[in-house]
Amino acid sequence: MPLSVIILAAGQGTRMKSSLPKVMHKLAGRPMLHRVYDRCMELGANEVHIVYGHGGEQLREASTHFKSTWVEQAQQLGTAHAVQQVVPLLTDDSTALILYADVPLIRVDTLRELINAVNKHDIALLTVNLDDATGYGRIIREQGEVVAIVEHKDASTEQKRINEVNTGIMALNAGYLKQLLEKVENKNSQGEYYLTDIIALAVEQGNKIVTVHPHQSHEVEGVNDRKQLATLERIHQRELVDAIMTEGVTVADPDRVDIRGKLSIGRDCFIDINTVFEGDVVIGNNVSIGAGCIVTNCSIESGVTIKPYSVLENASIGENAVVGPFARLRPGSDLKENSHVGNFVEVKNTTLGKNSKANHLTYLGDTEVGDNVNIGAGTITCNYDGANKHKTIIKDGAFIGSDTQLVAPVTMGENATIGAGSTITRDTEDNALVLSRAPQKTIRGWQRPRKK
Ligand code: UD1
Ligand code: CA
Repeated sequence: MPLSVIILAAGQGTRMKSSLPKVMHKLAGRPMLHRVYDRCMELGANEVHIVYGHGGEQLREASTHFKSTWVEQAQQLGTAHAVQQVVPLLTDDSTALILYADVPLIRVDTLRELINAVNKHDIALLTVNLDDATGYGRIIREQGEVVAIVEHKDASTEQKRINEVNTGIMALNAGYLKQLLEKVENKNSQGEYYLTDIIALAVEQGNKIVTVHPHQSHEVEGVNDRKQLATLERIHQRELVDAIMTEGVTVADPDRVDIRGKLSIGRDCFIDINTVFEGDVVIGNNVSIGAGCIVTNCSIESGVTIKPYSVLENASIGENAVVGPFARLRPGSDLKENSHVGNFVEVKNTTLGKNSKANHLTYLGDTEVGDNVNIGAGTITCNYDGANKHKTIIKDGAFIGSDTQLVAPVTMGENATIGAGSTITRDTEDNALVLSRAPQKTIRGWQRPRKK
């Protein structure tokens, strides 16, 4: 049976106190709406319909990768009314799954169980037992069978004691959903069209409500304000960190690592405190990452050491290389096997060959560095003439003395030696010593000026 997902995202999100629509706020680096959409893709949804209200333009502009339809609910007249906006677009003989864009941690295996529980005109409902059920719709059972959902505001004192609540997430035949929605009225304390009313309607028609439960209750928790968002963020971060520890990574403090993207990491790695991973990060075995590092979209091979407070973005780091402390690798940094980039070194769009070293206070931009090169402290590649960027090539075995400026475009020959303090503006020969500094003068008995 095809799967049609309806994502409700029309809520105003007033309690976020934000100009950004609530569902665009990020959890683990990804907007909540995108996380829920990702789950739809994992489920292999055939169609995804998003019901939006406020900030619809903002949602669509930020979600251009979605293969979904966008349906406006101009006035929020209730959850049944929201779903009704999608009805004309639904394929009749599909299973309709209703999700909430502000419930970001729902798991795919839970949803699969729910979808699999749908049978003809039986409705599959995701419910959970909560110690404090205040605010939620209560599940009313007779002889163990679900017969209705009563909203908190409409519940009697006795019904309010029920701990089993409606998560709002449900699945049922799409054609049947259409039929049921036509019968929903708004005669309740909030004057809203409640989606939950379809439960009693289906039971009246002799159909069954099958309940499924999430593996953990935070899967079905919604976000209304920034405190709830932070709570779910911490829960999710802990899950992500637990998963890498299970796979053989030592983490100095599981509460002080953040993974905001996809981290794939090998065995026997060590991650010190306050490290942040963003985007797609792939790390081999036996890699050590020092305290306070920020690693964004990087590939790091086995045996690499990243020393504390290094910031790495779109960089590729070969086996056994050493980076930092206080190194900055900008996009296009390609460090080969066993190379070293030390403190206060900035690298951009540059290849650093095998065993090559730039250990102190250096800028390498748009540079191709060969193997076994030593770059002295304070070396700067002057890659920018104020209008265009130019390339520097440093061939194998070259030795660049400290405090050298290489004015690009320029090439240093193989095994060339550049004397410290040089400003190099022309290509240098292989195997030669080149220097461009003024000769040293000595004036003996020099008298310093005296104050008059
Ligand atoms: C709803 C359920 C309740 C359940 C609870 C779980 C109904 C009537 N009640 O209550 O049983 O326990 O969720 O959190 O369904 N929305 C729209 N358009 C609308 C109204 C709501 O898109 O016109 C969206 C909201 O943005 C939100 C979701 O639907 O994402 C739920 O709406 P909300 O008003 O928060 O429902 P609750 O009163 O919490
Ligand atoms: Ca409400």
